[in-house]
Amino acid sequence: MSSINYTDKIPNNVNLSEDKTLQRALEHWQPNYLQWWNDMGPNGSNQMDVYLRTAVSTTPDGWAHFGHVKMPDYRWGIFLAQAENDRKINFGEEKGRAAWQDVPGEHRANLRRIIVTQGDTEPASVEQQRHLGLTAPSQYDMRNLFQINVEEGRHLWAMVYLLHKYFGRDGREEAEALLHRNSGDQDNPRILEAFNEETPDWLAFYMFTYFTDRDGKFQLNALAESGFDPLSRTCRFMLTEEAHHMFVGESGVARVIQRTVDVMRQHGVEDPAQVRALGVIDLQTIQRYLNFHFSVTVDLFGADQSSNAATFYSSGLKGRYEETKRDDDHLLKGQHYRILEVKDDKLQEREVPMLNSLNEVLRDDFIRDSIAGIGRWNRVIEKAGLPFRLSAPNKAFNRHIGGFAGHRISPDGRVLSEAEWAANERNWLPSEEDRAYVASLMGRVIEPGKMANWIAPPPVGINKQPIDFEYVRFN
Ligand SMILES: [Fe+2]
Ligand SMILES: [Fe+2]
Repeated sequence: MSSINYTDKIPNNVNLSEDKTLQRALEHWQPNYLQWWNDMGPNGSNQMDVYLRTAVSTTPDGWAHFGHVKMPDYRWGIFLAQAENDRKINFGEEKGRAAWQDVPGEHRANLRRIIVTQGDTEPASVEQQRHLGLTAPSQYDMRNLFQINVEEGRHLWAMVYLLHKYFGRDGREEAEALLHRNSGDQDNPRILEAFNEETPDWLAFYMFTYFTDRDGKFQLNALAESGFDPLSRTCRFMLTEEAHHMFVGESGVARVIQRTVDVMRQHGVEDPAQVRALGVIDLQTIQRYLNFHFSVTVDLFGADQSSNAATFYSSGLKGRYEETKRDDDHLLKGQHYRILEVKDDKLQEREVPMLNSLNEVLRDDFIRDSIAGIGRWNRVIEKAGLPFRLSAPNKAFNRHIGGFAGHRISPDGRVLSEAEWAANERNWLPSEEDRAYVASLMGRVIEPGKMANWIAPPPVGINKQPIDFEYVRFN
């Protein structure tokens, strides 16, 4: 079950050929997917051979094969992690019963909604990133971008498989709609707001893959706990791919910082204008990008108080991050959680029922994980002997969803008047000038091993290849 069948038209480890109806339905969807990839996937990449990894099995050790692949020939397919024997529902009202191998009728609408919402984010990010190949700072980076893009495409396949297999006609319609909504489209946008934002430059890309792909990690972890076993197994394999996306983000930002502090030290400058004059990105601008991507991503977890979140949990559909490692009753009735709110013009904590706060619980887990990486970025600055430190803004900063929407909060958590906000916004969020400056640095570098001036080389290459390996053949 762990090895993958590549002789079928659709690579899979789910014995697809035994279910002819499903196979035909998915083979019918496949050309529509390829059309979408052609129209909305990485700009100008169709002739390139890219050094990509492809899944060959779903066992933890050695699942990946590396080799040059013409991008549209990538073998997208359906890979589920191995089934766990006798898996149980581990939380909620049906805790202790056998995990569902099929969709329980009473949970059908909610499960479909969960799968569609997750599925919608996958092609959205490909669309958001489609122009970035034109300005890649190196072959190494271009390859990483394309690796992420093909895997997000595969994550769409993962969700479409579930829709086709378990949701009949509705599922097939949803699978079509996933190809018709487009990021930023006025009439038919993607479902979640952060996935309609542009990813205009490579600093935004690294921040996106650090923060927003990490939202993916937490959502997938919560769904990997699901009592609906096919969803759990699908998400467990997706998580192995997601780790690389966050690595690209964390190491990308670290390399931008490394290059900036190297240039600052070499020339003995700290003033942002002088730093920019040397063609690298000042640390203040990096902080503003961080503030933007952090706050937009934090919104993705939804409202702090949510009866849907309570329902998804109590009915065993969506668990908490690391549900089975937690030492409580996994029912959460009568338990409480402290949430933050604006009261008397201050941020104050309030105790509320835990079940309604599960979005907030997941958001707080995400924030803890995010802050750890910011600490690693700060070590790069510290090592250079510079006093500047990056930090995560308060979780109430720049929010558009939940109780903070409509309030103006500073990065350090003060409730502000509209005038105070307006006077400071450009110190906290990227301004037009910031974005124009970063855009002015972007330009494609294609000579193997060479890097754009504003970014340091990576410490090592991909799959033990040298940094000046030919990761992309342009043909
Ligand atoms: Fe994904
Ligand atoms: Fe991802």
